[in-house]
Amino acid sequence: MLIPLNLRKLLRFIAIYGPGRTLFKAAGRLRLRLPAWGSRSHAKDIGIVGCGQFAFATIGYFLTRRFGRRVLGCFDIDAQAAASLARGLGVPHVCQDVQGLLGLPGLRTVYIASNHATHAAYAELALGMGLDVYVEKPVAVDLAQLARLERTRRASKGRLFAGYNRPFSAALRDMRRHVRIDPAAGMSLQCFVAGHVLGADHWYRRPEEGTRICGNVGHWLDLFVHLMSWRGMPDRLEIALTWACADERDDNLSISMASDRSDLFSIMLTARAEPFEGINESIQFQHTDTTCKIDDFRQMTLWQGPNIVKRRYWPKDPGHKHAISQPFATGAGRAWQEVADSTLLMLHVTTMIRTATRVSTFSLHDARRTLDLAVDTL
Ligand SMILES: NC(=O)c1ccc[n+]([C@@H]2O[C@H](COP(=O)([O-])OP(=O)(O)OC[C@H]3O[C@@H](n4cnc5c(N)ncnc54)[C@H](O)[C@@H]3O)[C@@H](O)[C@H]2O)c1
Repeated sequence: MLIPLNLRKLLRFIAIYGPGRTLFKAAGRLRLRLPAWGSRSHAKDIGIVGCGQFAFATIGYFLTRRFGRRVLGCFDIDAQAAASLARGLGVPHVCQDVQGLLGLPGLRTVYIASNHATHAAYAELALGMGLDVYVEKPVAVDLAQLARLERTRRASKGRLFAGYNRPFSAALRDMRRHVRIDPAAGMSLQCFVAGHVLGADHWYRRPEEGTRICGNVGHWLDLFVHLMSWRGMPDRLEIALTWACADERDDNLSISMASDRSDLFSIMLTARAEPFEGINESIQFQHTDTTCKIDDFRQMTLWQGPNIVKRRYWPKDPGHKHAISQPFATGAGRAWQEVADSTLLMLHVTTMIRTATRVSTFSLHDARRTLDLAVDTL
């Protein structure tokens, strides 16, 4: 029997993400109204800037699952996107501009999921008003944006959280529980990523949006920085890039790095065929006596000498639930310094891609100093 592609995708997504998340993914695409979930009646105090698919299907899903209907208002330059997200998630205020949203009485937390070039400026505005901010990746597409954001973050009583979700995945958290850290030993990390095929007219490709390095690769650079932070950061990274096509250097590329603390990192982003089940990642890690394989955040195998640990994750857990919950989590949360470091590294690699530089050295110490200088001279 021939099953229509959409139905096949729906069934496959239910098998991977579970029915609830699949419902939100489908409703986000079709902009359907969703039934109110649960009886929890929180005061509405959340705003959303950028009302596309991620805001609806991922942020909307995890907020709804945890809090019921807590979103107070939303804004998008596309009025239809804002109105349909509001209808879908039961949001009372559709705002005409960002100032209108940020000025809503009772607003405490803002989620930013707009285009990449606008993240930093929206986050600055909201932090400047003392609000808590969750900003999707990348947090900035150039150093000037990062410096302004950093200056505002340091002065604000609001807190800033980033949407880099991989460190929050169940597999990474399980791995962290097992791995024995040796401050003198290096780490190896390899990520093979089958990403979405992006057409030439996709907004990620606009020059101001920071290339696919800011759009996608930043996730695994951030994961690398996060893993290194378990042991202590190196300073110098020798970076080598290889790309398949000179005129599309941020697609089908590989990045290799070696650090002055014997770390090795490699990532291959390949986007030659659209992954039917969404982005697919194979991650391998080694440090001291631990070797670990993570298969698309659905399965993990970890070896330590003669011992083996196997875990399956259903629904697939790339960490969105915990990343999106950061503003409401108890405890210290992820150190912002890690996000700032991974952003500095991402911006360095972005410059390499833009200038077709195949080999370069990155010093974290120098990059941090450059950022501090930029903050001080604002
Ligand atoms: N963490 C993750 O795993 C993950 C996955 C997918 C997307 N994302 C991020 O989520 C964000 C949104 O991506 P998406 O997939 O929903 O894309 P999308 O194209 O579906 O949505 C983007 C929305 O932003 C709106 N927008 C564009 N310019 C704007 C502006 N100046 N002000 C306000 N709104 C504006 C668009 O109209 C659109 O509705 C991006 O930052 C993306 O990187 C994160």
